[in-house]
Amino acid sequence: MVCIAIDGPSGSGKSTVSKILARKLGFVNVDTGALYRGVAYYFYINNVDFRKIENLTQALKDIKIEIENSNHTQKIFLNNEDITDKIRLEKISKIASEVSALSEVRIYLLGLQREIAKNRNVVMDGRDIGTVVIPNAEVKIFLTASPEVRAERRYKQLSEKVSYSEVLKDINERDMNDSNREICPLRKSDDAIIFDNSSYTLEETADKLLDIIKERVGK
Ligand code: DC
Repeated sequence: MVCIAIDGPSGSGKSTVSKILARKLGFVNVDTGALYRGVAYYFYINNVDFRKIENLTQALKDIKIEIENSNHTQKIFLNNEDITDKIRLEKISKIASEVSALSEVRIYLLGLQREIAKNRNVVMDGRDIGTVVIPNAEVKIFLTASPEVRAERRYKQLSEKVSYSEVLKDINERDMNDSNREICPLRKSDDAIIFDNSSYTLEETADKLLDIIKERVGK
């Protein structure tokens, strides 16, 4: 099975670019950030104080997260409820960033991610796909862009009333959390290709990456 690993910070366009790539390659796209968001959403609606280890352990036992892919669109289910849209709120982004620093959560989701990638060709995007989840991925891309460009993209995506400066502040904070946490921090794998797309549209980015991937995997 072939795995294309796309890692990078928030707003680098990973999810959109991965979706385009998966469609063009005929692969399944797995947005792993949605899994962390799913866990965060559970903690949020159930008011779980996940800093207490006993609460965290119990909550992870009570969670069943599943993803479903059809027509190159990923849906995510939490205990059989479709939460695909609900996990996109900014407050869930913040909790997801916090919970993704917990080793219990990462171990719980590691197995799930590997299971998903086991029997199919995937374009998997996240923060630690090339470094931890699928270290033998055939192609590893580290996608990035300047914080300002990433904030601008996020700002345009959000339907909520949030100012550009708040989004930029959140991006910088999340970059700090994701890059400085002790376990599985966001970092480029030594064998990943770094691609800064600050001056490209996401469609252009996907086209350029597609050329790189085709060259590598001979598709
Ligand atoms: O890509 P995203 O914004 O949907 O990710 C949500 C959070 O989950 C983000 O703070 C980083 C974290 N995450 C992670 O730690 N590892 C991954 N493989 C994917 C996401």
